[in-house]
Amino acid sequence: MGSATRILFHCAGDDDARMQDAVAAALGPEHPLAVWPDVGDPATIRYAVAWHPPDDFFDGLIALEAVFALAAGVDQLLRHPGLPAHVPLVRLDDAGMGNKMAEYVLHGVLHAHRGWPDLLAAARQERWLHDLDVTPAGRFRVGILGAGTLATAVARRLVANGYPVSCWSRGVRALPDGIDSVAGTAALDALLPRCRVLVCLLPLTPATRGILDTALLSALPRGAFLVNVARGEHLVEADLLALLDADHLSGAMLDVFAEEPLPERHPFWRHPKVLVSPHVSAPSGPEDSAAQVADSLRVVEAGGRPDGLVDRARGY
Ligand SMILES: NC(=O)c1ccc[n+]([C@@H]2O[C@H](COP(=O)([O-])OP(=O)(O)OC[C@H]3O[C@@H](n4cnc5c(N)ncnc54)[C@H](OP(=O)(O)O)[C@@H]3O)[C@@H](O)[C@H]2O)c1
Repeated sequence: MGSATRILFHCAGDDDARMQDAVAAALGPEHPLAVWPDVGDPATIRYAVAWHPPDDFFDGLIALEAVFALAAGVDQLLRHPGLPAHVPLVRLDDAGMGNKMAEYVLHGVLHAHRGWPDLLAAARQERWLHDLDVTPAGRFRVGILGAGTLATAVARRLVANGYPVSCWSRGVRALPDGIDSVAGTAALDALLPRCRVLVCLLPLTPATRGILDTALLSALPRGAFLVNVARGEHLVEADLLALLDADHLSGAMLDVFAEEPLPERHPFWRHPKVLVSPHVSAPSGPEDSAAQVADSLRVVEAGGRPDGLVDRARGY
């Protein structure tokens, strides 16, 4: 056997020890991990497996051939000051997150559909809200910003529960049966007034940062509900708060925030129409993530193109 391929690992997640063990096991002894900051000779590192690496992580990695992100969204890595421009970047593509995301979003859609924003408000006043109108699921359209891996998993689950679903993307996509695909600004303008729930599952790029603003959210019908599970920077927080307080939106389920952890005394914590979760809608599980990283690394080693290869110019 020739000399082993050295791989530099860094993970700043809550599960970093489990992730490290899972990645080491999936890669096997022929791919020994150097765990940052114990880099050894940086010139012998060929691959990096990383999440939230520090600014000097890529220093001296002159033989680096590819970077594998331990996440589906790579906005943070693309902003990294040391990420070499020529090195392929590979993200997680589903890796077990699709089902988790589908469950989380289904919960949000059911919450909105079955009137829980109003029921909770009534309960706080000990008011018996018996005459609640229930729209049939088939007339309760959900719009999803994004038509990628996670949006498709979410849309499938919602369609299976009887909801009409439209996914918006840059180009029209061939989506599974029952899921409507729309693309472009005019189509989004036409879609928004028809959506009772809007779900954001876009990558964070210069084109999508701040997309959930007054202009977009006020185009939703009165009483609509927002689910943001993509990135906090998609949302203009003050715009959402104003539309909630003006009763234009009935509520929001937010899993991601511009600042995480959500700071103490942030208005979202106690807002009666906001459901807050701490970025847990679809955590990347160590075993699924490690298995996909190992598969992708072997595809790259064999000269192939792995699933999840990021288009650096496009930003996702
Ligand atoms: N909260 C969590 O726990 C969690 C977990 C995992 C991921 N996420 C977030 O979810 C995001 C989506 O993940 P994914 O795996 O589904 O990504 P993906 O497969 O790359 O899908 C991205 C989708 O967004 C669309 N898109 C990108 N830029 C657009 C624009 N300017 N206008 C319209 N559509 C645009 C793409 O359109 P095209 O189809 O036309 O290319 C594609 O359909 C990640 O980037 C991450 O931020 C959050």
